[in-house]
Amino acid sequence: MSADALKPAGPFSDAERAAVYRAIHERRDVRGQFLPDPIADDLLARLLQAAHAAPSVGLMQPWNFIVIRSDHIRQQIRAAFQAANDEAQAMFPAEKRALYSQLKLAGITEAPVNLCITCDRSRGGPVVLGRTHNRDTDLYSTVCAVQNLWLAARAEGVGVGWVSIFRDADLRAILNLPDHVVPVAYLCLGHVRELYGEPELQARGWAQRQVLESMIFRDGWGAK
Ligand SMILES: Cc1cc2nc3c(=O)[nH]c(=O)nc-3n(C[C@H](O)[C@H](O)[C@H](O)COP(=O)(O)O)c2cc1C
Repeated sequence: MSADALKPAGPFSDAERAAVYRAIHERRDVRGQFLPDPIADDLLARLLQAAHAAPSVGLMQPWNFIVIRSDHIRQQIRAAFQAANDEAQAMFPAEKRALYSQLKLAGITEAPVNLCITCDRSRGGPVVLGRTHNRDTDLYSTVCAVQNLWLAARAEGVGVGWVSIFRDADLRAILNLPDHVVPVAYLCLGHVRELYGEPELQARGWAQRQVLESMIFRDGWGAK
């Protein structure tokens, strides 16, 4: 190991820390606020670099980034979402269905860029450091990449919406995914001028953010 492999570390300045926490707390899932303005290539490159800087099990880097700008593909994706969303609505109890039907849960065609972040489960071969006893750590790694991108996007004034309401087979067919590749996140990206100050699902009365203290146990499950 070279002598300069380690770099000085320590807390950021007050302003830098405030910026990091601001990105965390002001990040939102975006469905309806996308502006049609294109996302410049250098900006998209910064977002993808942020995703690619994520931690990954054994440095496996199991992700790929499928950048989708084609109207034709986005129309197909939107139709796949619509079919799955109709099925999803029917799964909720009758008293929640009316509210569900009013929620906008995807901005696939309004967002100028869509991005599918995938996990190649075969990357690095059959034995990957750290993945020996938990095969799903490659999926967890890919989700870290998604979150890195989501936070960087907030700092750049780009909104991100995660759409998960698809039949797996539909997404695979439209994007030509091989069997060993899992579509982990389908994201809609676009510039935004305004964001909700709280999760939109909370603002619309679907669900509430829980109090943090109720989530914390001490030294074992359930222990307060
Ligand atoms: C794995 C995952 C899947 C999601 N899928 C959808 C989705 O299909 N449609 C949608 O409108 N929001 C989706 N969301 C966004 C959540 O609804 C949102 O993160 C949550 O309500 C909290 O709001 P916030 O992200 O604005 O803080 C998803 C989020 C995650 C982490």
